[in-house]
Amino acid sequence: MQLLAFDDEMALARPLAEALQCPLAPVQRHRFPDGETRLRLPPALPAQVVLLRGLQDPNAKLTELLLAAAGARELGARRLTLVSPYLAYMRQDMAFAPGEVVSQRHLGALLAAAFDAVVTVDPHLHRISSLDEVLPGRRGLALSAAPLLGAHVARAVPGALLLAPDEEAAPWVRAAAQAQGLQHAVCRKQRHGDREVAVALPDMDVRGRAVVLLDDVASTGRTLAEAARGVLAQGAASVDVAVTHALFIGDALAQVHGAGVRHVWSSDCVPHASNVVSVVPLLAQALGTLQANAERV
Ligand code: R5P
Repeated sequence: MQLLAFDDEMALARPLAEALQCPLAPVQRHRFPDGETRLRLPPALPAQVVLLRGLQDPNAKLTELLLAAAGARELGARRLTLVSPYLAYMRQDMAFAPGEVVSQRHLGALLAAAFDAVVTVDPHLHRISSLDEVLPGRRGLALSAAPLLGAHVARAVPGALLLAPDEEAAPWVRAAAQAQGLQHAVCRKQRHGDREVAVALPDMDVRGRAVVLLDDVASTGRTLAEAARGVLAQGAASVDVAVTHALFIGDALAQVHGAGVRHVWSSDCVPHASNVVSVVPLLAQALGTLQANAERV
């Protein structure tokens, strides 16, 4: 097996290659003055190739990813697996207005045409039950960082109340809470715009409680900030935050801390100063299983 990674993915790629005990090679890029990219891969690839590419800030990366996949096939990869710790466009899973493009479905089709399998972590699959449904005819593996984040929370804040800031985060929060024997509850969210959300707290007494908000992704940070303001206004002793995907766009982190949040923790799916737990062992185990299954077929 050969692991390929773009130059800005090395923080995750190196320990992943070590865990997989396989060679790591960079996808070399040259950016032309007109904005096009020339990619260069190792000239001879083995049959099994894994390409690591997180899709935060996805638009430019997608072109390069599809080119790299096609190039890898030409250079010998017969079984090509994408490891994308953050899989973008998963939230746009239905047409909310006539004419709206259902990006989840179409990005899934593009990836299915390019890769034999896709491994990701906590994709936002709200209205569908499995990643396989997004990748017609291919294998999709959705891992979860929620148990790792739950374990971190249990160590850092014993007896914490885990709170999902919206119904979509409920499965992750339930899994994390149950694994650690922590209490959990779920808020209700209404989104009025990119940066306008209203969060209704669950009907429970949070006075004096150490609350930890757990979500799959923090983008503008408004969801977490609203939820944090709410629980602090109701008398919570502290509010911390744990997310799988630390996008934290623009002033997001300032918004979250400005709302009274004490600590912000995240997995290393997206490189960020808040990373405290690593998904490398999860990814390595999943890739090992995929490889063993492929060899059996
Ligand atoms: C959506 O429901 C997700 O689970 C997150 O709650 C949401 O994407 C966070 O977005 P933002 O940080 O922009 O409020």
